[in-house]
Amino acid sequence: MENNSENQALIYIFGGSGDLAHRKLYPALFNLYRKDHIKHNFAVIGTARRDWSDDYYRDTILKSLTELPGSYNQKIAFTKHFYYQSHDVTDSNHYVTLRQLGDELDQKYHTQGNRVFYMAMAPKFFATIADHIKSEDLLSDQGFNRLVIEKPFGRDYESAKNLNDAISKAFKEEQIYRIDHYLGKEMVLGLLPMRFTNPMFEQVWNKQFIDNIQITLFEALGVEDRAGYYETAGALRDMVQNHVMQILALTTLERPDALNAADIRDKKRLLFQALKPYTPEQVDAKFVRGQYGASDIPEHEPAYRQENNVDPKSPIETFVAGEIDIDNDQWSGVPIYIRTGKRTPEKRTRIDIVFKPSANQIFDQPAAANILTIDVEPSEGVTLQYNGKKVGQTTTPESYLMSYHHSKEMLNEVLDAYERLILDVLVGDNTNFSHWHELEATWQFVDAIRQRWDSQAPTDFPNYKSGTAGPQAADELLAKTGRHWIYQPTDNTKR
Ligand SMILES: NC(=O)c1ccc[n+]([C@@H]2O[C@H](COP(=O)([O-])OP(=O)(O)OC[C@H]3O[C@@H](n4cnc5c(N)ncnc54)[C@H](OP(=O)(O)O)[C@@H]3O)[C@@H](O)[C@H]2O)c1
Repeated sequence: MENNSENQALIYIFGGSGDLAHRKLYPALFNLYRKDHIKHNFAVIGTARRDWSDDYYRDTILKSLTELPGSYNQKIAFTKHFYYQSHDVTDSNHYVTLRQLGDELDQKYHTQGNRVFYMAMAPKFFATIADHIKSEDLLSDQGFNRLVIEKPFGRDYESAKNLNDAISKAFKEEQIYRIDHYLGKEMVLGLLPMRFTNPMFEQVWNKQFIDNIQITLFEALGVEDRAGYYETAGALRDMVQNHVMQILALTTLERPDALNAADIRDKKRLLFQALKPYTPEQVDAKFVRGQYGASDIPEHEPAYRQENNVDPKSPIETFVAGEIDIDNDQWSGVPIYIRTGKRTPEKRTRIDIVFKPSANQIFDQPAAANILTIDVEPSEGVTLQYNGKKVGQTTTPESYLMSYHHSKEMLNEVLDAYERLILDVLVGDNTNFSHWHELEATWQFVDAIRQRWDSQAPTDFPNYKSGTAGPQAADELLAKTGRHWIYQPTDNTKR
């Protein structure tokens, strides 16, 4: 894409010296630069407390680009667009310096008064920053003003609402881009085109034909160095409220009238309205949690409670499985099973759509159910299990697989999730960001589970070994209705 006026902007990165900025944002911005989505008319002001010079800051950025394609000279030219301003976000005076530097760079780089404010730091600062952006006049009155905000957006409905109220004093809903990076993944973006351009799927995407849906988001890694945050969050807040719910919504929402942010968000809102928070009894019946213990080789994979900065008696869950019911015409009675966990056998995100078996069983042996599997990561593609005839002198049905996966070469050419989402911010497309209505509903749903769990300390933690697919209770959740998880990773170790 050629550079155009939409992609001219001054970007403030609050938390410019941090991990997210260096691991995700600078590489993503560089790839956008390499692919000409941003070129001459952009500048970035990185801010944080530590006392760095522009040159030192640019060196740190250069290091974060080491693995990326592109020449050294191109990388140097890119880093020249970056400026560092030492700044404590709680100090009002510093915003005056930020504003002056912004005005100067706006002139120098012809950014047309377009401003992006990227909050890449601890959420406790988001409200303070938004407040100061408004009171210290950092908002531009010529171009656009857009706020990008990372997860977690609150830790329950109440804190999310307080945060939303605070940022809403400075930014309108359409100026707020709440990042959920799963919404930038190729196969998640492909859900609506797949569902709504294939009558063979669209016609049967409902309770008449679908028996159940299974959504799995597995991570092979443990808590790593994020224990400080994770101990206050757990898998329910960290993964279910946002990523799992967003994938669930795109898998089950009604056909939007058009493929634009307003229509898609409207259908998501309707979908989430059909999600009724569970009673404590429903939570007990429909949700289970787990925490990883050591693997069979403990020195390789310690138990969660033995990780750095984790309470040795921590009640925090690292695994959640549950059944979510959608109370509307399309889905009532169809269980949507979800599961997410750390230290599972492999990193994998996939959706399995399990169809009801054919009602017309005229063959000597029953045919298997059709299953449509959407692989989101690490492989990206679709597999359909369907029935044909077993080869030979027989009419016995047999299952076959039809599969399409994008090639690595093809995927190397496309933007990754952060690149796409940052580009969306620059061009002003908020389709793939979470609207406040979605957070409202998903937090209320998750809060009911959290409250029930907080009222009952888990007595069986740890209840799954590192390298396994979660606790036995996750399998029992489906087994009680005669179902099972379609995706069964090979356990690295015995449970
Ligand atoms: N890291 C990830 O992969 C990841 C993934 C998803 C979401 N997130 C979210 O992204 C945000 C940032 O995470 P992170 O991992 O990058 O954290 P981090 O490495 O701890 O970075 C925090 C940044 O905030 C700055 N900072 C702290 N207090 C400040 C203050 N009072 N005034 C100005 N700057 C201050 C720090 O620099 P100084 O110490 O120099 O001030 C640093 O640049 C969090 O909301 C996190 O939940 C991170």
